[in-house]
Amino acid sequence: MTLQSVTLSNGVEMPILGFGVFQIPPGQTQATVEAALEVGYRHLDTAAAYQNEEAVGAAIAASGIPRDELFVTTKLWIQHAPTGSVEDDSRRSFDNSLRRLGLDYVDLYLIHQPFGDVYSEWRALQQLNKEGLARAIGVSNFYPDRLVDLIDHNEIAPTVNQVETHPFFQRESDQALMKERGVQIESWGPFAEGRNNIFSDPVLGAIGESHGKSIAQVVLRWLVQREVVVIPKSVRKDRMAENFDIFDFTLTDDQLAQIATLDTGVSLFFDHREPTMVGRLGGHRVS
Ligand SMILES: NC(=O)c1ccc[n+]([C@@H]2O[C@H](COP(=O)([O-])OP(=O)(O)OC[C@H]3O[C@@H](n4cnc5c(N)ncnc54)[C@H](OP(=O)(O)O)[C@@H]3O)[C@@H](O)[C@H]2O)c1
Repeated sequence: MTLQSVTLSNGVEMPILGFGVFQIPPGQTQATVEAALEVGYRHLDTAAAYQNEEAVGAAIAASGIPRDELFVTTKLWIQHAPTGSVEDDSRRSFDNSLRRLGLDYVDLYLIHQPFGDVYSEWRALQQLNKEGLARAIGVSNFYPDRLVDLIDHNEIAPTVNQVETHPFFQRESDQALMKERGVQIESWGPFAEGRNNIFSDPVLGAIGESHGKSIAQVVLRWLVQREVVVIPKSVRKDRMAENFDIFDFTLTDDQLAQIATLDTGVSLFFDHREPTMVGRLGGHRVS
């Protein structure tokens, strides 16, 4: 089995399959990430907001895996500029993430939410990229309008946009727009965190049976075939291994067409353009 990768617009190679650590309690994260690294994952996705960067860093250190064999992503939360400069505070927030991770650089640094003064945040990220402290920079949860605006008014374009993408919210047209603009799509919530009874969906189940694969494997394979980077989360080592074992089968055109029928075209969580959520997330503080 070969772990495939994509080449970002700035030439950086990114493993197409990684491991996400959202909602893993800090006390459980080190052991969980160590298990994921044992299974073979070399791409880890965390965020300042997940409050578990230290544990991710401890697992990396304990693994002894050479740094250049790993791909580590973390994210900048919305900055509120107590010092008066969002750019300076973004830099400080990055320094804190790097210290918690115990690393000298990250492979990918993302603006976590499309809210607040993202232009000042982006200037800080551009500088980090130029200094080699973030090999690639990108965004998350940006709808196409915000993404294009950010690209058109800055020096460096985001290499990645990490957005909710799963069989019930497939984002084909968003992916096409990103591709046109040189932005790699990355899926969060590939299993919709279990919503819509995804793990007992009859369409996905029948496709899985025909390949001797689970529904989780079908979903991940479907994303990888679409060239969507994906970072499933599990606290169970058997599931980590299952989710990693997706490179030995191919979905047929007919099966891809069947999966296309599951798309509802809307988020199963919330729309990042919804005013209540803009206010709620904007009020959340992360150091
Ligand atoms: N940028 C953002 O705003 C954003 C938002 C959300 C997530 N993310 C990133 O995306 C990653 C993945 O998304 P997610 O964690 O929200 O959700 P997810 O990967 O769609 O779903 C995780 C859920 O699926 C279960 N699961 C995993 N593998 C399974 C399998 N093979 N069979 C059955 N159940 C399985 C897990 O349970 P167990 O753990 O009990 O196995 C967990 O309840 C996150 O960890 C995070 O890194 C980013």
